[in-house]
Amino acid sequence: PAGMTMFTEQLPTLSELGVVDATAGGSATLRMVNATHRFHGALAPTPTFAYRSSTGSQTYLGPVIVARQNTAFDLTVSNELGAHPLAFAIDDGLIDDAVGEGLLPAGTDDAVGPRAATHLHGGNTRPEFDGGPLDVFGLGASFTYSYENRQEAAGLWYHDHALAITRLNVYAGLAGGYLIRNDDDPGDGSRLPAPPYEVPLVIQDRMFAADGTFAYPANPNPTTPRPWAPEFFGDVATVNGKAWPNLDVARGKYRFRVYNGSNARFYLLKFMVAGNSLSFHQLGTDGGLLDAPVRMSKLTLGPGERADLVVDFAALPAGSTVVLANSARTPFPDGPQATRRGGAPLSQIMRFTVTAATGYTAPLPARLRATPITRLAGRPVAATRTMTLVEILDEADTPLMALLNNRRFGSSDYLTAPVAADTLEQWELVNTTGDAHPIHLHFTQFQLLDRQRFDVDRYLTAVYGSDDFEPGTGPYQSPGIAPSVTPFLIGGAAPPAANEHGWKDTVVAMPGEVTRIVVPFGAQAAGGAPLAIGATYTGEYVWHCHILEHEDNDMMQRYVIS
Ligand code: C2O
Ligand code: CU
Repeated sequence: PAGMTMFTEQLPTLSELGVVDATAGGSATLRMVNATHRFHGALAPTPTFAYRSSTGSQTYLGPVIVARQNTAFDLTVSNELGAHPLAFAIDDGLIDDAVGEGLLPAGTDDAVGPRAATHLHGGNTRPEFDGGPLDVFGLGASFTYSYENRQEAAGLWYHDHALAITRLNVYAGLAGGYLIRNDDDPGDGSRLPAPPYEVPLVIQDRMFAADGTFAYPANPNPTTPRPWAPEFFGDVATVNGKAWPNLDVARGKYRFRVYNGSNARFYLLKFMVAGNSLSFHQLGTDGGLLDAPVRMSKLTLGPGERADLVVDFAALPAGSTVVLANSARTPFPDGPQATRRGGAPLSQIMRFTVTAATGYTAPLPARLRATPITRLAGRPVAATRTMTLVEILDEADTPLMALLNNRRFGSSDYLTAPVAADTLEQWELVNTTGDAHPIHLHFTQFQLLDRQRFDVDRYLTAVYGSDDFEPGTGPYQSPGIAPSVTPFLIGGAAPPAANEHGWKDTVVAMPGEVTRIVVPFGAQAAGGAPLAIGATYTGEYVWHCHILEHEDNDMMQRYVIS
C-alpha cells in the first residue's frame, strides 16, 4: 500500500516482544486471541491472531519463552479464537478430505472458531505434548504441554500446526520464539551478547489489502476454484511484526536469533553497508551451538530454519546504516522472482542504524561448547530409507499438491515401519521437483551428511513409469519407501558447508539433489557418545515440508518410534 516507507518503524526487541521466563521451571499460560496490530504507521490496523501472555499485550506473534536445559516447564494454551482474519483463504476441500479420512471430526467451522495445535518446533517433546497436526482443540478448550527441555541450548520456536489450516493460523500471527539456555549459553552476557544485545529477528513476508487486512493470493490454477495456493510470497517484509523496521544499534556485537517464520519464502541474507557486505559469524544452527564461530558473508535460510548470528558494528562510525538485504528468488532457487503484483523480490528486509554509544565489545569465545558435537557421519546406521519429494501437476504444469513418497497425509499406507528407538538412521531425501523444500522432522535433531545430484527424469521413469504421476501410485516397497536412487546419481557428494555442521531439525533439500541426513532416534543412538538432543521417547510423530502451503496439502507423513 502507498505510503509504507521503509525503515521508519522501530524493531520490537526481546523485551518488547515480551518474555516468559521459564528458566526456573514452573508454568505459564498463553491465550490465543483475536487482535488488531499495526505493522506500519501508514497502514490501517490489521485484524490478527496472537499468543498473549498473562502480563503481555501481544497483538501479533507471542512472547519469547526462555527455558533452561533440564528444567521442565508446563505451557497451557487456551483457544479463544473467533473470526479468522484469513477466513476467505480457508480451503474447505482440504478439510473435507481430512474429515473423509477420519483425521478430523466433522462440523468445525474454522472461519468463525478455528482449531489450533501448538507445536514446539525443534523440541524433543513426548508425543502426547508434540502439538502435531492432529492434536487440535477448538474454541473454549485449552491444552497443557509439558516440556522437559532435556536438549541443549538452542533457538526453537512455537507455532500453530492445525491440520489443513496451519498456513493461515501462522500467517495470522500464531508463532513465537523459545530459547533454551545452558552453561554454554547462560544468557547473562558472560560468554555471548545478552539482551539488549541479543535480539530475535522473526522474518515473515506478508501482503496487505488497502484497508490493512491481510491479503492471500488466489489459486493460480484456473481449473481448480479452491483457495489453496502452491506457495505464498508477500510483497512486504516484516520483522517481529513490523514492516521494514529499523533497529538503532550501539557500536559493538549483537547476537541475532534469526527465524525464517515465512510461509514459503527462502532468504539469501547479507548485511550491506555502503555497497559492501559486512562479514558476520554464525554461532549456531536450528538445534544448538556450533563447535566454533563460523565466519560468513551470506546466509541461506529456508522456511522453518533458524540461525544464531553475531554481527559486530564496532568498526562502523556513528550514523552508518547497515541493510539486511535478500537476493533469494521465488520459488527458490530458480523461480521468476515475481510476487502476485509482479513486484521485485524483497531485496531489503530491515535496517540497522549505528549510534555513538558503545555496546558489547568482549571477544567471542573460540570454543562455543564445553563438549564438542559428536559427529554422526560414518557411524553404522540401523536403516537407510529413500524418501521422495514429489509434486503433482495438472496438464498446464500448475501444482495441485506436493507429497512425500507420493502418499497423501491420510493414506492408510503411510510410513508405519517403525523406527527403532535409540538407533541411527540415514534418510535420503530425493527431491524430484523443480524447487527447494525445507524438510523438518519432529522429535529430534539430525546432522546433514552430504548432498548429491541425480538424474531426475531417469529416476522418475524407473519409479513411476513416467514423470507424470498420480498420488498413491508407484512401485513403493512396503511400507512406503521409494526405490533406491543410487543407480541414478551424478557426480560426487558435496559435504555440508561449515555452518551446516551443527544440529539441524530442518534441512533444505535442493531440486535434483539427494540430501542425506543422519537421524538419531533417541539419546543413546550413537552407542553412548554424547548426543545432547534430549531424551528417548516412543510414539507417533510427523515429518514434513516446512513450506506451509505444501505441509497443508499434503507434504507431510507420520512416523512411529517404537
Ligand atoms: Cu515448524 Cu511440524 O513444524
Ligand atoms: Cu515443499
